[in-house]
Amino acid sequence: MTRMPGAAAAAIAGADFGPAVVPCHVAIIMDGNGRWANAQGLPRIEGHRQGVETVRRTVRHARKRGIRFLTLFSFSSENWSRPKEEVTFLLGLLKMFIRRDLAELDSANVRVRVVGEREGLGEELCALLDEAEATTRSNTGLTLVIAFNYGARNEIVRAARALAAAVAAGELAIGDIDEAAIAARLDTAEIPDPDLVIRTSGEMRLSNFLLWQAAYSELVFDAVHWPEFDDAAFDRALEEFAARDRRFGGLSVRAGA
Ligand code: IPE
Ligand code: IPE
Ligand code: MG
Repeated sequence: MTRMPGAAAAAIAGADFGPAVVPCHVAIIMDGNGRWANAQGLPRIEGHRQGVETVRRTVRHARKRGIRFLTLFSFSSENWSRPKEEVTFLLGLLKMFIRRDLAELDSANVRVRVVGEREGLGEELCALLDEAEATTRSNTGLTLVIAFNYGARNEIVRAARALAAAVAAGELAIGDIDEAAIAARLDTAEIPDPDLVIRTSGEMRLSNFLLWQAAYSELVFDAVHWPEFDDAAFDRALEEFAARDRRFGGLSVRAGA
């Protein structure tokens, strides 16, 4: 593999090549909306509203960089513990995003997938999520994975139940339960594991995000709050990823290492 430092590449005729090693799947914990809003003297929900603009920008930039899968952690199974008005606002924001952006995403050849538990989201939102997935099912560009009402432990519990049901029905032998059988029953079935997980706002934790899938992901933390995560911040994370030495428990494959 030929590696060219991003800065050197960008210097060629002012072209914008981006980093030399582009991750296939980037997953982002979009954190810091509330703190961003507070710092501006605004209510927390204004941070969420502004966060949607960052989502649009991030999807565009991911497409530009040739990323194949982009997962955005939008609402966790633990976020129900927030004040009711904030929860209602976040559910409404997802509805609005799909209503306003689905046609554009579709025309940009983006395939939408939604992961997380559907129960408790209400009929209207569930129908919109189904519509987003169905409309874009055969698109071949970026796959945008929206993690909504998502919690990794909840996802693993549901997968365990599905496995137990298959065993009870005589469709699966206990000895056939392997990593692939578990992965196939997670919400992320057929989505490759994230190569890079980015979290904004300076917190350095996973908060129940993709615990199974992120086993060997590279983690990048940025102090910037989500509403201010721009293309330059995204590129910084991609550059950091490109400089990492992934070993997967083996030995370095880098020349001379
Ligand atoms: C991330 O921003 C959005 C969601 C979790 C829905 P926060 O709302 O967590 O913002 P902070 O972390 O309180 O600043
Ligand atoms: C994680 O952020 C969830 C999302 C970004 C949707 P939180 O703000 O909920 O995480 P904690 O509570 O700081 O761990
Ligand atoms: Mg937060």
